[in-house]
Amino acid sequence: MVTNDSDMEPKPLRVVQITDTHLYSDPDGRLLGLNTRHSLEQVIDLVMKTRQPDLVVTSGDLTHDGSPQAYQHVQDCFRRIGVPVYCLPGNHDEVATFNTCMNSDPFLTVRSARIDNWQMLFLDSTVTGSENGHLAKTELDALDKILASSPDSPALIWLHHQPVPMGSRWLDSMAVDNPQDLFEVADRYTQVRAILWGHVHQQFEQNRNGVQLLAAPSTCVQFQPGSEEFAVDLIPPGYRWLELFPDQSFRTGVERLQKIPGEIDQDARGY
Ligand SMILES: [Fe+2]
Repeated sequence: MVTNDSDMEPKPLRVVQITDTHLYSDPDGRLLGLNTRHSLEQVIDLVMKTRQPDLVVTSGDLTHDGSPQAYQHVQDCFRRIGVPVYCLPGNHDEVATFNTCMNSDPFLTVRSARIDNWQMLFLDSTVTGSENGHLAKTELDALDKILASSPDSPALIWLHHQPVPMGSRWLDSMAVDNPQDLFEVADRYTQVRAILWGHVHQQFEQNRNGVQLLAAPSTCVQFQPGSEEFAVDLIPPGYRWLELFPDQSFRTGVERLQKIPGEIDQDARGY
């Protein structure tokens, strides 16, 4: 077991979730008035100032337009963190282009990874040509198989779309449409510690039968929690951090920029 010299506490595996970056082919591309690349750069600066992550997970909507140039910008931004970046697609990604572009070191598009005995499981919840989320049988069968084969490894399940209602009608019309199939698998394995997603551009924490359900803010525009219709939340972007301990416990939290790095169109009716 690795320990800190100072206090002999076990050293955690440090994970950072940086999600919904929404970059464009144009490096000056803006979402509701906000330069998404500039905003991502600010969040990455904050990560590098406040954390020393061992790995990063980016849980979808890496780009807004799905172009190869936008994925190149994503790579340029993330590469300077200097650690592996596990990538999931979102509804704004072009999955074929995503798979081609995000498969070279330090970027990984894999089903799973076991690191320091923690099992990371990555599920593709995207549906071609749709904003909605769905977990195909192939995704759930793979989840089932990996969980069955690694009962002693605490597991985190990552996906893009939310598998539970966020209490926001417009957003919940674009959720995973078969969450019961996911929970039917996850509920059979006591080693599942958390299910985490992006997509909702807001912080969210809930406990379901001892499993943490967690969402992270976007690195650009935030959505108003609990809003029936599309609405922007004027709080700064940020990221989620996790510290995963050898005793199978973990800590997590959200860190934000001190202010929004630009102007946002507050009257926007959609994105
Ligand atoms: Fe998004």
